[in-house]
Amino acid sequence: MARLPHDRMDLDDYRRAGHRMVDWIAEYRGGAGEHPVMARVEPGSVFDALPSEAPEDPETIDAILADVDSIVVPGLSHWQSPNWFAYFPANAAEASLLGDMLSTGLGVQGMLWSTSPACTEVEMRMLDWTARALGLPDAFRFDVDGPGGGVLQDTASSAVLACMIAARDRATGGRSGTHGLDQSTAPLVAYTSSQSHSSLEKAARLCGIGTDHLRLIEVDEAFAMRPDAFAARLHADLDAGAKPFFVNVTLGTTASGGFDPLPEIGRLAREHGLWVHVDAAMMGTAALCEEFRGMHAGIEHADSWNFNPHKWMGAAFDCSCLWLRETESLVSAMSIMPEYLRNRATDSGRVIDYRDWQIPLGRRFRALKLWFLYRGIGLAGLRTMVREHVRLATELEAWLDAEPRLESAAPRSLNMVCFRHVAGDDATRAMLHALNDSGDMSLTHCELDGRFVIRCCIGQWRTTMEHVRTAWDRIRLAARAVE
Ligand SMILES: Cc1ncc(COP(=O)(O)O)c(C=O)c1O
Repeated sequence: MARLPHDRMDLDDYRRAGHRMVDWIAEYRGGAGEHPVMARVEPGSVFDALPSEAPEDPETIDAILADVDSIVVPGLSHWQSPNWFAYFPANAAEASLLGDMLSTGLGVQGMLWSTSPACTEVEMRMLDWTARALGLPDAFRFDVDGPGGGVLQDTASSAVLACMIAARDRATGGRSGTHGLDQSTAPLVAYTSSQSHSSLEKAARLCGIGTDHLRLIEVDEAFAMRPDAFAARLHADLDAGAKPFFVNVTLGTTASGGFDPLPEIGRLAREHGLWVHVDAAMMGTAALCEEFRGMHAGIEHADSWNFNPHKWMGAAFDCSCLWLRETESLVSAMSIMPEYLRNRATDSGRVIDYRDWQIPLGRRFRALKLWFLYRGIGLAGLRTMVREHVRLATELEAWLDAEPRLESAAPRSLNMVCFRHVAGDDATRAMLHALNDSGDMSLTHCELDGRFVIRCCIGQWRTTMEHVRTAWDRIRLAARAVE
């Protein structure tokens, strides 16, 4: 192929550089456990180390990778380290990474079915595969005749915003989409627990209901929404002339992995015509295993169900599955048809245009990340990983119970263990800082019952019993050291 004047990397150059890149990534991943887990750089140091202008002429892949080694890697927190116990796992399994590479390599835009039919139809099939793998209701799948189906969003935050907008339009008969939202009379109100993720508050802001119309419902001792408190607030709002329209049910809260009681909340919400959204961002993955499907109790009430394969399951970020019992509300809330997007396939009514299921127009071929993950690892492998992580968390919980300096701060939930120092918040905080500063492991904190708590989330793809045992030895030593 002739080299174009502007093309300073031809396909042979690309092939050579690409092999170098794949090797670099494999080496990085092999040694991810050897870096200090949390980045230790000073603010501005990475920025300052980069030249102030882009190069005029091409540079070699070796020169670029040398800078990755010396500038970028020290500025990373190593999410792929087996000593990662912070926030949530961001597993990007190599099998999925290959699909991500292909997605970028194909470089297609799947905004409309007609702009790449395979992009849409592989995605539809992957959503169906995933729904089956998790044991979700038939109504969420495309391969049964009905109004439901699934879509890949970038994140759980986008998914809940899209659903809140759809629910808003459903509650106002589409008027809010056309005329704007009038909150002065019969204001729309939404419900979520005080332990739910901040994306709920952001969605309430962005969809126009305002955070003062988002009710944060009290939780019980397991940090799950109290159905009686939800019912009381709902009835008080109805009595005051408000219009309840949306409730979020979290299955696996961010702080401690609490599970809101979907059967009770869902039943009451549906009686009053609320949209029931389920946020199972990290812990939804556990439903791959039959024994953890208790979380699906009450799922018949859910209008939308969302989880992030890009957390625990191994799909490279970004990859968030959203299923809807009926897709029409979302599509009518999102759909705008300018002339330049008109095409015969859309006009035929026989295809899905996923641009109408999300906020942006453009979309990439994300489904390849799932396809390659399922085909490269298999469901059996994914289930084995989930079971092993839950087993490791169960072991950690037992060790914790036997350690007099530490106490459990919440019931263990699947792969999440929360604890604190018996000497109080200052000691717990000092322990957390010492452990993270050591570079040996990463942990994050939360607040439960007004107390500072360390949460240990076991879910990194390569974390084994050896890593958890070593982490525990370090935690015990840190607990002793702060006394
Ligand atoms: C329960 C829960 N919901 C939503 C989110 C937001 O996820 P995302 O980054 O995909 O928006 C998180 C992230 O930690 C979460 O824990």
